[in-house]
Amino acid sequence: MVNEKRSVGILATGRYLPEKVLTNADLEKMVDTSDEWIVTRTGISERRIAREDEASSDMALAAARQALEKAKVAPEDLDLIIIATVTPDMFFPSTACIVQEKLGAMKAAAFDLSAACSGFLYGASVAAQFIQNGMYRYALVVGVESLSKITDWTDRNTCVLFGDGAGAAVIGPVEDGMGFLSFELGADGRGAELLKLEAGGSRKPVSKVEPGSRENYIHMAGGEVFKFAVRAMNSASDAVLVKAGISKEEVDFLVPHQANLRIIDSATKRLGLPDDKVIVNLNRYGNMSSASIPVALDEAVSEGRIKEGDTLVLVGFGGGLTWGASVVKWSTKEKGND
Ligand code: UT7
Repeated sequence: MVNEKRSVGILATGRYLPEKVLTNADLEKMVDTSDEWIVTRTGISERRIAREDEASSDMALAAARQALEKAKVAPEDLDLIIIATVTPDMFFPSTACIVQEKLGAMKAAAFDLSAACSGFLYGASVAAQFIQNGMYRYALVVGVESLSKITDWTDRNTCVLFGDGAGAAVIGPVEDGMGFLSFELGADGRGAELLKLEAGGSRKPVSKVEPGSRENYIHMAGGEVFKFAVRAMNSASDAVLVKAGISKEEVDFLVPHQANLRIIDSATKRLGLPDDKVIVNLNRYGNMSSASIPVALDEAVSEGRIKEGDTLVLVGFGGGLTWGASVVKWSTKEKGND
């Protein structure tokens, strides 16, 4: 458990959503779908789409600046930058290095992390270890996705689901007993084929992709992923609560990955929470993969819904397959140097 040593938490969050809104009505004009189908099967009404000239590092930078300002941490004091994304600007250099330079965070080590929709929780967990063991003081973790750029806009099975955006968190030492109380991370590569972007890597380089092939877009076996998601959300939240020694009754808010309202409802029931204790924004943003959880968290904190001392369960799942969860005793009060 993280809080047996130095307590580590989120000192501030930030978010960036592109301006362009794509509604279900817009999608009705693009593929054979309906607002009614999308809303009842997913809970999504609209999503944001990045500009053609807007890449993941641009969105990550905007969210990061907001979080750093709120945390009152100067970029030059950052020790580590982790960018969780499946849509980096390019294969290399990492998007984290691009953001590091633009922020002027020249002291920070920087790398990207690939865990799909679980990426923010994987990233937060990695960052927390460095701070807990005293190696670093401040880390920036950003979940950012430009999924619109890898979406097949002719495939109604997937194109209605995804959106673009970025959520950032500055992670650092907090008062004893606060912050991250536990983490649970997991993966099952047997499900790797269920959700993937096949082309562009070393198995099928871009130069070998046939013109007109759909291999350079997201492919998903939706039904299979759905079943996995329900199982993963439930078992990961159960496990992380046991590790933290927290009962379901003590949970104030669930902040779940925003993929499908029916998946979120299942996790909500499992925890026995009323609907107003669950942070939901997928109706406005769709599934933003690694950005979903930090954006939801930032909105709920900015709106004053999540307050100091609240107990949160963050939980997500995604391609890989992967899953992650954390129990957080919310506190943005930084602990001074011991
Ligand atoms: O964060 C990453 C992880 N991804 C997810 O969590 C996604 C998990 N999966 C899901 O959310 C759901 O499986 C979907 C929303 C993707 C699909 O919902 P579903 O209830 O599982 O629908 P389905 O795939 O079983 O499709 C039912 C029908 C099919 O028609 P037929 O074959 O029964 O005639 C689909 O072709 O709905 C059809 N369909 C659509 N109809 C209108 C699929 N997409 C659409 C659409 N509009 N956009």
